[in-house]
Amino acid sequence: MTVAIRILENIEDMALVEDLQRQVWPGSELDVVPGHLLLTAAHNGGLVIGAFDTVSKNQPPALVGFVFGFPGLYFTPDGPRPKHCSHMLGVEPTYRNQGIGFLLKRAQWQMVRHQGLDSITWTFDPLLSRNANLNITKLGAVSNTYLRELYGEMRDGLNTGLPSDRLQLDWWVNSRRVNRRLSRRARQPLDLANYYAAGVKIVNPTEVIDETWPVPAEETSLPVLEKQPDNDPPAILLMEIPADFQALKETQPSLALHWRLHTRSLFEILFQYGYLITDFIYQPGKHPRSFYVLSYGESTL
Ligand SMILES: CC(C)(COP(=O)(O)OP(=O)(O)OC[C@H]1O[C@@H](n2cnc3c(N)ncnc32)[C@H](O)[C@@H]1OP(=O)(O)O)[C@@H](O)C(=O)NCCC(=O)NCCS
Repeated sequence: MTVAIRILENIEDMALVEDLQRQVWPGSELDVVPGHLLLTAAHNGGLVIGAFDTVSKNQPPALVGFVFGFPGLYFTPDGPRPKHCSHMLGVEPTYRNQGIGFLLKRAQWQMVRHQGLDSITWTFDPLLSRNANLNITKLGAVSNTYLRELYGEMRDGLNTGLPSDRLQLDWWVNSRRVNRRLSRRARQPLDLANYYAAGVKIVNPTEVIDETWPVPAEETSLPVLEKQPDNDPPAILLMEIPADFQALKETQPSLALHWRLHTRSLFEILFQYGYLITDFIYQPGKHPRSFYVLSYGESTL
């Protein structure tokens, strides 16, 4: 497959983005961001970037992925600062897991740096392992902000049926962390064995019942934090999530809701404590497993 990445700036391109949205988030015409809004954003500092499959010589290149964002503000004690707010990233279902999401975000990173900005933010569902892997492991975004039911009840086919909780990501585009992850010689990600070897604890040990989905144990090991009033809390903790939440949601909606509420409460406690999500582990295989890595006392940069 040959993929070309380019900036989209005309209304014909925006119509392709409308169509692709219908494929990625099916079922709700009301939720398609219209071409005229994409175009206006793109002409006023926003970015709509497309990925095209250019393999077939007889066909025009097909749009198979896009990322869309616009300029915004974040607020500091010294006043507001400009940032880029990334709103949507989508890849056509049959083109996923081939690095297209990464290429689109890398192009966005390059353009936003070129605009002189140092921050990109966006939100995502914390139970989506693939998104977490891309956003945190591969791109180097961090998070310590949990937003309950951010979008109210969602109507599209991917999001319907569960509270729309989101993590907000901070992508400090000029930071060492991000530069290292996007460099051609990116670091080798750490795996679960590395963390086990260092004695790192899992805050929510899970059980796999009937070889299907992990179920979080009733008892979490958060008391680990409370038992050490005089010491610093553990420098690193792991939190497990299901490796394929979409499939779990389709087959066991009540367990999916349980996972939503369970991880909501853990993230809120850990963020209040001062933890920051700094990494993510995905262990593929017959029984894939996924874990957030939370660090204590690390700066977001
Ligand atoms: C999220 C999305 C844009 C990612 O696009 P993509 O092109 O598949 O992403 P990439 O291939 O660049 O990166 C995904 C990575 O996750 C890995 N991955 C696959 N399944 C995984 C899983 N269950 N858990 C963790 N990682 C997984 C892939 O192997 C790949 O890593 P690698 O390149 O090291 O092999 C795409 O899945 C999508 O369109 N999803 C629906 C819409 C959505 O959720 N958009 C984002 C919120 S607005």
